[in-house]
Parts: sequence; structure tokens; C-alpha cells
Amino acid sequence: MKIRSEVPADRQTIRQLTVRAFADPDSHREPGEAVLLSELYSCDGYLPEYSVVAEINGHLVGHAIATRGWLDGDIPLLGIGPVSVEPGHQRQGVGTALLDEIRNRAAKHGERAIVLLGNPEYYGRFGYGPAIPAGIIPSDPSWGDYFMVLNLSDMPLPKGNFRYAEPFGV
Ligand SMILES: CC(C)(COP(=O)(O)OP(=O)(O)OC[C@H]1O[C@@H](n2cnc3c(N)ncnc32)[C@H](O)[C@@H]1OP(=O)(O)O)[C@@H](O)C(=O)NCCC(=O)NCCS
Repeated sequence: MKIRSEVPADRQTIRQLTVRAFADPDSHREPGEAVLLSELYSCDGYLPEYSVVAEINGHLVGHAIATRGWLDGDIPLLGIGPVSVEPGHQRQGVGTALLDEIRNRAAKHGERAIVLLGNPEYYGRFGYGPAIPAGIIPSDPSWGDYFMVLNLSDMPLPKGNFRYAEPFGV
């Protein structure tokens, strides 16, 4: 498996992959995550170095993106999502490799922390913990322990109200 930065020619394949990863068998509508992804590419919070893909034998099988979010409007953090792995390639370590890559790049660039909204069982294994008890408050506190944070520095986490990049709408 090869992990690399996204290039513009990947966009259409990434979109199709995102649709398949988040497909709802009970609906013919395009998943909201695919729409969100398109909007993230053209928003202020888009950071090309945090859009990464996984390739196996030249085929794109996974994608993850982190964009710029803000704590109290002035402390920059990264917000991960969406993360998509081709259904036929799930549970083979692709998601883990994509998340590791984003974390390593973020740490290298001196980012303070990464937040995400996800299953605590899955993301706990990467060191993410509940963000609200740590003082990072999302716009919707009902997210509870699903709103998670990973501290990338040796310093205590900054506290405040977190807002994702604008297309998230939260
Ligand atoms: C969630 C997702 C990104 C994980 O990627 P993946 O490549 O399948 O995950 P990995 O192979 O790296 O890790 C697999 C492990 O995570 C666990 N896992 C995977 N998805 C999980 C989930 N939604 N909740 C809890 N655990 C999960 C598996 O049980 C497995 O554990 P095991 O190794 O002990 O059996 C992928 O399944 C996916 O694209 N799902 C659909 C879209 C989605 O929900 N994206 C995440 C929200 S943005």
C-alpha cells in the first residue's frame, strides 16, 4: 500500500470512493459526505498537504482529509473528515495508515491538536480521547464522547469553543 498526497487528477475517483464508503442502502441520494468533500476543496480551511490517499496496485482505495478549524476563532487546530475506505478494502489497515499519515504530517508541521467526530471505539486506538472533558467545546455539545481530540504537543491542550471549516456548518 502506498500513501501519498492527493493530486488534482484524483478528485473524481476520491468522490466516487466517498460515495461508496458512505452509501446508505435505503437511499438513492448522494451521501452528504461527498457534498461536504467538494465544498472543503474550495473553502478557506483547505490545506492540500492534509488530503491523502491510499493506493494498492495503482488503484485508489482510501482517502482522508483534515482541514483548518479554529478554537475561539484564533487558535488553529485540524479537523479530520471525511475518511473513506473502499468497502471491499475495509478492515485491512487502510484507514489506520491514512490516519497515521495525517497525524505524522501534522506533528511535523507543529500543529497543536487534531479533532474529529467519530466512533470512540475506533479512534481511541489512535490516542484520541473525548474533547469536551478536555475543554474543547463543539457547537453541538450533544456530540458527547464522539467529539474527540488528539494532542500533538507536550503542552496541555488549549481550551475553547471549536468551529470546523465553514462547509461543515458547525
Ligand atoms: C471507518 C473506516 C474509515 C475505517 O477504515 P478501515 O480501513 O476499515 O479500518 P482499519 O482496517 O484501519 O481498522 C480496522 C479496525 O477498526 C475497526 N473499525 C472499523 N470501522 C469501525 C467503526 N466504524 N467503529 C468501530 N470500529 C471500527 C474494526 O473493527 C477493525 O478492528 P480490528 O482490527 O480489531 O478488527 C472505514 O471502515 C470506512 O470508510 N467506513 C465507512 C465510512 C466511515 O464511516 N468513515 C468514518 C467516519 S468519517
